[in-house]
Amino acid sequence: MTNSQRRYHITTFGCQMNKADSERMAGILEEMGFARSEDPNEADLILYNTCTIRDNAEQKVYSYLGRQAKRKHEQPDLTLIVAGCVAQQEGEQLLRRVPELDLVMGPQHVNRLHDLLEEVFAGSQVVATEPVHIMEDITKPRRESAVTAWVNVIYGCNERCTYCVVPSVRGVEQSRTPEAIRAEIEELARQGYKEVTLLGQNIDAYGRDLPGVTETGRHQHTLTDLLYYVHDVPGIERIRFATSHPRYFTERLIKACQELPKVCEHFHIPFQSGDNEILKAMKRGYTHQRYRQIIEKIRECMPDASISADAIVGFPGETEEQFENTLQLVEDLGFDQLNTAAYSPRPGTPAAIWENQISEEVKSDRLQRLNHLVATKAAERTRRYLGRIEEVLVEDQNPKDSTQVMGRTRGNRLTFFTGNIQQLKGKLVKVKITEARAFSLSGEIVSGNSN
Ligand code: SAH
Ligand code: SF4
Ligand code: F3S
Repeated sequence: MTNSQRRYHITTFGCQMNKADSERMAGILEEMGFARSEDPNEADLILYNTCTIRDNAEQKVYSYLGRQAKRKHEQPDLTLIVAGCVAQQEGEQLLRRVPELDLVMGPQHVNRLHDLLEEVFAGSQVVATEPVHIMEDITKPRRESAVTAWVNVIYGCNERCTYCVVPSVRGVEQSRTPEAIRAEIEELARQGYKEVTLLGQNIDAYGRDLPGVTETGRHQHTLTDLLYYVHDVPGIERIRFATSHPRYFTERLIKACQELPKVCEHFHIPFQSGDNEILKAMKRGYTHQRYRQIIEKIRECMPDASISADAIVGFPGETEEQFENTLQLVEDLGFDQLNTAAYSPRPGTPAAIWENQISEEVKSDRLQRLNHLVATKAAERTRRYLGRIEEVLVEDQNPKDSTQVMGRTRGNRLTFFTGNIQQLKGKLVKVKITEARAFSLSGEIVSGNSN
């Protein structure tokens, strides 16, 4: 099998964790001798890394899968894998629904792909969804970018937000040690990477499952300590982290971001709702006042910090007035970016079986109204960039215009400007912003750039 250059294809749905997992699985497959295929129809092994955060994410997977299952009837040696959160949620049931599948594997089993495939090639149909201790990975991921990289710092989630499937599909919190994280970042720096994004579903929970407390009784390993511990890795120019949880967000963290020059001034802190009753029903563990305080504190310390968030509309029982409290929060705080979603009942979550569900019409009306406000506010916020000189880390060519390159500002705004990707890839460039759209910028390289 190894010598005939079998080809693999991966399609990834869902969040950054899934993207990071896909890169690790691609690395494992390449180490096993598989070559990459962008087109699933030319691949001998197809892996769908799936998401189940909302019903529409899950349905998409089934439609993709149906097509490939059909193909398997003509090409019996096609290997079909479902990984990720749908795999974890459905387990054995997925085999009943799609008997053509060879392997169903949950997110905690990503590092075991090689072993699992050995079982498949020996003739078994395999389901790997039991909870496990996640081992440190020795395989090299095949990363999408040569400039920016994801680094997992904590897997799983111990929160119990009443709408959310993540804890049931990603399992309990498991932090990697600071040493393992630093070693991975050092390796990335040696390979020429310039930016890392530390990942966790609730990154503020980092370290609470690791041993050690300080004299004052707090956990010895926190996200703040981790930032101090990794920030000086030579070669790495920028550090980001996501996702923050308002319940555990600390002032120490804000201070660290202010103090450490490589940590970018961008915060992704979902608030989900601007109404205290709804927040309580969601079991989020904070009030809208607390959330506002956090944002005020950040802006007090870093006036230009960019702030993004997630929000849900139409949570069970949400009244028009409560929804308006969400609008009010968005109006008052003016986010740089906001991911919005209509509430989707998820199997096994408490809120899914409550009787006070909101109709689809009302949800979609609220979603539209919120999105309209978000676009208006983002357009307002983005104007502050006009005429300014921003530092952009060049990641790639503009896929729509090969005379241009693209990258991100420290505040995470996608920025385009004329330039040669061969010369500029991975460089930090000063760019004068000449155009500011709601979610992206255009500009011109400033002469006298040291690059
Ligand atoms: N860990 C992060 C978010 C994880 S899920 C946090 O605590 O905020 C990403 C986003 O999907 C959430 O922020 C939420 O806005 C949305 N989401 C999660 N479950 C959902 C559901 N059942 N219906 C609609 N949106 C949902
Ligand atoms: Fe889901 Fe809440 Fe955990 Fe975020 S913190 S992943 S919303 S349970
Ligand atoms: Fe989706 Fe799983 Fe991420 S459900 S959002 S891929 S943790």
